[in-house]
Amino acid sequence: MQLTLPLLALALLGSCAAFKFERINKNDSMLLIVDQQIGLFQLVRDFGPEEYRNNMLAHAALGKAFNLPTILTTSAETGPNGPLPKEILQMHPDAPLIRRAGEVDAWDSAEFRAAVEATGKKQVILAGIVTDVCTAFLAMSLVEAGYTVFANADASGTFNAQVAANANARMRAAGVHVLSQFAVGADLMRDWRSTPGAKELFPFYDTYLAQFAFMVRAHAAAVTNGTVLPGESV
Ligand SMILES: *[C@@H]1O[C@H](CO)[C@@H](O)[C@H](O)[C@H]1NC(C)=O
Ligand SMILES: *[C@@H]1O[C@H](CO)[C@@H](O)[C@H](O)[C@H]1NC(C)=O
Repeated sequence: MQLTLPLLALALLGSCAAFKFERINKNDSMLLIVDQQIGLFQLVRDFGPEEYRNNMLAHAALGKAFNLPTILTTSAETGPNGPLPKEILQMHPDAPLIRRAGEVDAWDSAEFRAAVEATGKKQVILAGIVTDVCTAFLAMSLVEAGYTVFANADASGTFNAQVAANANARMRAAGVHVLSQFAVGADLMRDWRSTPGAKELFPFYDTYLAQFAFMVRAHAAAVTNGTVLPGESV
């Protein structure tokens, strides 16, 4: 069949109406830190270790920056998986920490489900090790349970980039929003004039995102002490 112009317009209209941009609402979201244990950390090969540690800590710090209800969970932490990094434990001393004795999918733990339900929030931001199991199983369980789920792709790690791509595709097919850490932070903030906004988040990015940190510092240095050199302004 040939697509006539009116038909084409109708088709386009249909696809536009079907799309709904689901935003992260800082007032209705919680942050989950899933199995980012020091033993499991050894399995992560889709990021370099320094970058992945940075991303993991940044994910945890988003909970602090936006004062989100935060839940920590570990899988069999007395075995090879090990405990969470002390940096994360120190960041969230009062957060519930659900040490699962055996459940692979955190949602299979009644204690974990109760902690999630107790937040009263309907949006979930999560990251875990490994992406294809700890992040994906829980993310899909949460979608099934009626939550809107945002998987922080920079803070989930796994064996290699192909495994990550397949896990992210599987999550997307299930309706999980898979997005970068910068996108999570930007949607939580929404406006540089908000609180938290520029005043709180420039220091956050100064710690966790070097490109952004140095852009901001360069601007401050230029405004405070800068000189336009000959040839610079055309
Ligand atoms: C969150 O709540 C505050 C205070 O009620 C309100 O000003 C703000 O617009 C809300 N943010 C969103 C994204 O709904
Ligand atoms: C401006 O220069 C002063 C003196 O060298 C320095 O202390 C200050 O940190 C600089 N400001 C910025 C924003 O780089």
